[in-house]
Amino acid sequence: MVCLGNICRSPLAEGILKSKLFRANVVIDSAGTGAYHIDEKPDNRSIAIAKINGIDITDQRARKFLVKDFDEFDIIYVMDSSNYRDVIEMARNEVDIKKVKMILNEVFPNENLDVPDPYTGGDFGFKSVYKMLDEACDIIVKKINPNG
Ligand code: 4NP
Repeated sequence: MVCLGNICRSPLAEGILKSKLFRANVVIDSAGTGAYHIDEKPDNRSIAIAKINGIDITDQRARKFLVKDFDEFDIIYVMDSSNYRDVIEMARNEVDIKKVKMILNEVFPNENLDVPDPYTGGDFGFKSVYKMLDEACDIIVKKINPNG
């Protein structure tokens, strides 16, 4: 799960997917394309909306997306088109490029919709981001675990 700062959207996406997917052989992580918040905890507003929904994301620490993530992960979900461009710029080949997907395309295929960056907005932005990611993660879990 990749966003810009790795403190608002992608930590929520990581926490939500982890809460829905209990397969030991699936590794879920998140990272940011920017380095502004490395080693920081998620934004308090992300922590709060996760907590309201029964998810604890306080153990997460921001890190930067690295080229080696292309080797370690099969699917790289990005939150918006700017994250998409930044990650694609780091891709080494077609195999890397094919791993990168806009997360809301799971809900609205081929529409390339952004999960809006809630950083400079208020709490409502975090609530709606949570809802979008929750819906996307439900679909991702069904794809990975078709029999529940
Ligand atoms: P995120 O939100 O990409 O969802 O973690 C942001 C967090 C911090 C900044 C931008 C977006 N920033 O510019 O510091």
